[in-house]
Amino acid sequence: MSTPRIAVIVVAAGSGTRLGADVPKAFVALAGSTVLARSLHAVFGMQEQAQVIVVAPASDEADARAIGVQAAGVASASLTVVTGGDTRQQSVAAGLGELVDGIELVLVHDAARALTPSALFDAVAVAVRQRSHGVIPGLAVSDTIKRTDAAGGIIETVDRSELSAVQTPQGFPRQQLVDAYARPSGDFTDDAALVMAAGHPVSVLPGDPLAFKITTAWDLQRAEQLLSAGSAVPGGASGAERIGVGTDTHAFDASAELWLAGLHWPGEPGLAGHSDGDAVAHAITDALLAAAGLGDIGSVFGTNDPRFDGAHGSVFLTETRRRVENAGFAIRNVSVQLIGNRPRFAGRRAEAQTLLSELLGAPVSVSATTTDGLGFTGRGEGVAAIATALLHASGTACAK
Ligand code: CTP
Ligand code: MG
Repeated sequence: MSTPRIAVIVVAAGSGTRLGADVPKAFVALAGSTVLARSLHAVFGMQEQAQVIVVAPASDEADARAIGVQAAGVASASLTVVTGGDTRQQSVAAGLGELVDGIELVLVHDAARALTPSALFDAVAVAVRQRSHGVIPGLAVSDTIKRTDAAGGIIETVDRSELSAVQTPQGFPRQQLVDAYARPSGDFTDDAALVMAAGHPVSVLPGDPLAFKITTAWDLQRAEQLLSAGSAVPGGASGAERIGVGTDTHAFDASAELWLAGLHWPGEPGLAGHSDGDAVAHAITDALLAAAGLGDIGSVFGTNDPRFDGAHGSVFLTETRRRVENAGFAIRNVSVQLIGNRPRFAGRRAEAQTLLSELLGAPVSVSATTTDGLGFTGRGEGVAAIATALLHASGTACAK
């Protein structure tokens, strides 16, 4: 893995007094998953790979690690779990102690904001880089706000146009956050307040209603309902179908073994590529990622990433399925066509379909064609593959 430049500290060490569940809030069940798992799936769905630091209650560290490893998938090397403190601020401080060298900016996120989309993390990170200071998401306040006294008497109406209800992730240049935590001037409920108290500017960008904090039982119910309605899926409405297309091309390399559609083809010329050159698996990967709005094979798997050096198609497909399902989609079906003179696919088509369908947990149909001698495929220089994937926005498919 290349050294990450972003770290995300996910604070999950609170007890959840106001929620009143029998386990700490981060470990409460949510739509077949947990609050922490939901939050971490969003973090691991960020465009840029980050060091992820989970701050957990001492009693639940092993659970937090298990949830983290599942959410991280192939990125589990970038996961750290550390014990939190008595206050949120102490928990963030514990997380800061785990930053690795090379981290330039840090996002701090409440695990309790379980439905926060990955895109909000990306937006905050981009803005911190652009502005070189702290950036936090906030939403305009729609209720009229009154300042009251202890007896309920109204002192004044506050001008709501000046107000912003702020959320997390809150992002800061590493140095400014570390500096603020090194000399805290009080106990604050968010990081922006501490950083500003240390003299650093912080500004607000548009937040997301889905980044609301699960505080009470009512909030938890709202989160359940949003997930079961599919509304928390990127771009998804209840039951929405999404399609995606993907293509891939590889040149023949006679010195390589051929791996295609997840199968080994002894005696056939292989395909050149950073991985095993399995154009069929790669086209399917792109189609699935595109349908889910999760980027493409290059952004997710990184063509320079040594973990995928020589990796077989099954590695890409398994990880892609995990990501797609974690984002709240179920795979409906996939259709893929290989274009090339060889290998002759007919004899192993059923075998390929069975394997790919098993890997994806959905029907995969494979067809093959030639191009009548035309183009690079017709000249036998390589193969191409085109895939289409159909997803269903279930909203509740996130694994534990
Ligand atoms: N948090 C933490 N360490 C603490 C207190 C809070 O890591 N000592 C985390 C919580 O796990 C949560 C986030 O900070 O993800 C926001 O805090 P809050 O919503 O107040 O959670 P709790 O403190 O757990 O809930 P409550 O205040 O109702 O007890
Ligand atoms: Mg609290």
